[in-house]
Amino acid sequence: MQRTFIMVKPDGVKRGLIGEIVKRFEQKGFVLLNAELMTIDQSKAEYHYEEHKAKPFFGELVDFITSSPVFAMVWEGENIIDVSRTMIGKTSPTEAQPGTIRGDFAFKKEENVIHGSDSLESAEREIANFFDPLQLRSSDQMF
Ligand code: CMP
Repeated sequence: MQRTFIMVKPDGVKRGLIGEIVKRFEQKGFVLLNAELMTIDQSKAEYHYEEHKAKPFFGELVDFITSSPVFAMVWEGENIIDVSRTMIGKTSPTEAQPGTIRGDFAFKKEENVIHGSDSLESAEREIANFFDPLQLRSSDQMF
């Protein structure tokens, strides 16, 4: 079973999209292991977006993600990394298909409502950046 890190970005929180996004993941059959409304500090944000450090928009990206609270979540499910990326849709709203979260709700590339890990390695790294491993719901508490 895979785990992934999903985050409603500041624009999504401000627009009241937390419930809609949680609903889509629950209806898909995924299991929520932990969630927290949090304001990300500079160092956690820089670590989270480390792969974009050399990009010209890195500063704006960090400023945006630290600007107001995000809703950070850990979800579990079969093939959740790939399935959640499909549910989220492409980065650019001009390419994100209707029916995907970004296709239905995002209109700017820089503020595109939601983040989802793109690989198993990223998921482990991102979960550990934001959550204590002992604070994740375990399977014996699920059924
Ligand atoms: P995401 O894929 O979640 O993580 C990296 C983010 O960088 C991406 O979403 C976009 O929101 C953002 N991004 C991509 N391209 C640009 C850009 N040209 N300017 C600002 N932000 C960008």
